[in-house]
Amino acid sequence: MVSNHRHLVVIARVLLPAGLNPLRDRFEVREGGLEASRERILELVPGARALVADPSVPVDRELLAACGEDLRVVANFAVGYDNVDLEACHELGVVVTNTPDVLTEATAELALALTLAAARRMSDAERDLRAGRWRGWDPAEYLGLEIGRSIVGIIGLGRIGQRYARLARGLGAEIVYSGPTAKPEAETELGARRLPLDELLEASDVVSLHAPASPETRGLIGAAEVERIGPGGVLVNTSRGSLVDSEAVAAALQAGRLGAAGLDVYDGEPNVPQSLLEAPRCVLLPHIGSATVASRDGMARAVADNVIAVLEGGEPPSRVV
Ligand code: 8YV
Repeated sequence: MVSNHRHLVVIARVLLPAGLNPLRDRFEVREGGLEASRERILELVPGARALVADPSVPVDRELLAACGEDLRVVANFAVGYDNVDLEACHELGVVVTNTPDVLTEATAELALALTLAAARRMSDAERDLRAGRWRGWDPAEYLGLEIGRSIVGIIGLGRIGQRYARLARGLGAEIVYSGPTAKPEAETELGARRLPLDELLEASDVVSLHAPASPETRGLIGAAEVERIGPGGVLVNTSRGSLVDSEAVAAALQAGRLGAAGLDVYDGEPNVPQSLLEAPRCVLLPHIGSATVASRDGMARAVADNVIAVLEGGEPPSRVV
């Protein structure tokens, strides 16, 4: 094993042992801890050769400057990297890496779980039962929709979107999708049809978001788009909160203009808008898309593999910049 204690690796918050141990074996490692404040992270980073971040840690010019000129790599503990200023990293010659693939299954399954839970009103039904409001079987209560009889619209047919499409197709759903590039293989395999966004929203019973956060996708689903999904439709978001106008979703749920919603991500996490907390027919989860043992261990290992590759002069397995 190569031992190079001259190299400092700063983990802004935490990294699971699957990634932490191989890094500790090779480098000096400092960890900020789960509760690390911005100030604490800024104190930790001077001299860092590698910085391990996650989506709750903005890696901006200030933080990059605080790291200093030894910085070689920002390894994000996530597939998404909207928290990282890629342009600044590129200018500084700093490599950026992420953790794709290992979380595809977990995130797609969670999106399917949210789809089923929202479509079948599970949160409201369970809440009523726990509160003692269940008065017995009622043939007209909690009526939802079946995925097997639905058109499922997928916005962003990348790795996770495609896996989710296969799962929904397995239940019998018809698949439509929208995104910047055509996916002919998915069209052949899944019979998926590519539609412009507005047509997809009109056509779909379920709309599931799998696009990355970017200036272009911010507010992609606002009041007008929610109206198009409509009173019989279900909106699912396991990508990033910034894609959705939460207030518009909450208002449409309250007014009955949107059938149901299943959300795992929020703009400004961990804050969840009060309007969503109070909205009916809405399943809310605390960003657990990749929260399985296999996925999180895989992500932690991928972080370590990326850091080790760059610091030992190789090409990282998952380079973004
Ligand atoms: C992460 C995610 O678990 O990978 C991503 O982009 O959103 C999640 O899988 C979460 O962001 C914490 O790192």
